[in-house]
Amino acid sequence: MYKLVINGGTPLKGSIKTSGSKNATLPIFFSSILADEPLKLSNTPQLSDVSTTLRLLMDMGSNFVLEEDGSIFIDSSALTNLTAEYSLVKTMRASILTLGPMLAKYKKAKISLPGGCAIGTRPVNLHLDALEKMGATIEVKNGYIYASTKGLVGAQINFDLISVTATENIVMAASLAKGITTINNAAQEPEVTDLIRCLKKMGAKISGENTSTLVIEGVDILSGVEYAICPDRIEAGTYLVAAAITGGKITVNNIEPDAMRAVIGKLIETGADIQTNQNSIKLDMKGKRPYPVNIRTSAYPNFPTDMQAQFMALNSIAEGSSTITETIFENRFMHVPELSRMGANLKLEGNTVVCKGVKSLSGANLMATDLRASASLVLAGLAAQGSTTIERVYHLDRGYEMIEEKFKMLGADIERVQH
Ligand code: UD1
Repeated sequence: MYKLVINGGTPLKGSIKTSGSKNATLPIFFSSILADEPLKLSNTPQLSDVSTTLRLLMDMGSNFVLEEDGSIFIDSSALTNLTAEYSLVKTMRASILTLGPMLAKYKKAKISLPGGCAIGTRPVNLHLDALEKMGATIEVKNGYIYASTKGLVGAQINFDLISVTATENIVMAASLAKGITTINNAAQEPEVTDLIRCLKKMGAKISGENTSTLVIEGVDILSGVEYAICPDRIEAGTYLVAAAITGGKITVNNIEPDAMRAVIGKLIETGADIQTNQNSIKLDMKGKRPYPVNIRTSAYPNFPTDMQAQFMALNSIAEGSSTITETIFENRFMHVPELSRMGANLKLEGNTVVCKGVKSLSGANLMATDLRASASLVLAGLAAQGSTTIERVYHLDRGYEMIEEKFKMLGADIERVQH
């Protein structure tokens, strides 16, 4: 087991390069199931969720090679085992993304139900209802989803809620279904668009990308492609908040600023001086204490739930009061008690946290609980006076590549220590 030890108080300075997006890599890896040829994917991040995805695909009969240039050559064209086992699914909910591709290509799938997770119940009803509408027969027993079909057919899908992975699952399934599928109330997250771009390169016929209505005309086969995964807007946002909370000045390269408008808007409200270029963002806090920002999470293009915890850390030391309202997940405030242990003044009222900024936080021993909550604790530790230790670092390794190396490059005093 590893923990992070942080000595806070140093304003971050310098530049880093954002890794490829975790939430784009996972669906694109699973889309390899649809193709009759291998895919060559570049700009893939080295993360434990990516290793879990590769292990799951290998368990089903895929082969992959890590190329010298860092890209991954993946061949899932002939699966031999149409089961996603509990042991792997339980560690990564995105495993549900095997369902649409397996049903579309092999007409059969058995997938462990992902179950709840730390941030809420996170059901998969939207995925299952939509696939049933497309001609799948689905039974849930003994903790598994058993799905089969005589052949998926296009359908009109109206999602009651906006769901990223449900949209991705249905786009993939519809790409090989017979006829036309229309998805209304589709998620418009940049990671959904990245998957759509990759599928189109593979030969899929999809229109409406970047809008809430997607129209997919099924094709008979999809082929192999080379594709570069988009940058990780959440990783980039996390480093920018780290610079803002420490009063620092950094440049984050290899990003698409357009995909980060909501987060950039909030950073400007904190008092940060921001300059964007085509592929980079410069943030200069000029040593100032941040102004507080009110946040309400919502589907893209609004403020992302995956950046809520990081801004809570920033609001904790801001000059004034603020509210953060979480509308996507029902239990995404596990960082609140940990930040409070560092001296933050936070009050949970339903799905809103009222924060009265304090002058400074003090270092403490903390426990990471989920991916983004853990990131907020790192940011708080970087800004705090004294030493902070964060246990259960494996939560961070699911979504941040080389986290302590990147922070060290920015001048932070941070070490990974075995215990
Ligand atoms: C994805 C992201 C995650 C991000 C989230 C919201 C991946 C791998 N993960 O998660 O990082 O925090 O989007 O932007 O891309 N819901 C249902 N029924 C369903 C599906 C979802 O009720 O069948 C609900 C969920 O409980 C939640 C809301 O819809 O309240 C949105 O969830 P969803 O967009 O599906 O999140 P994920 O795709 O799991």
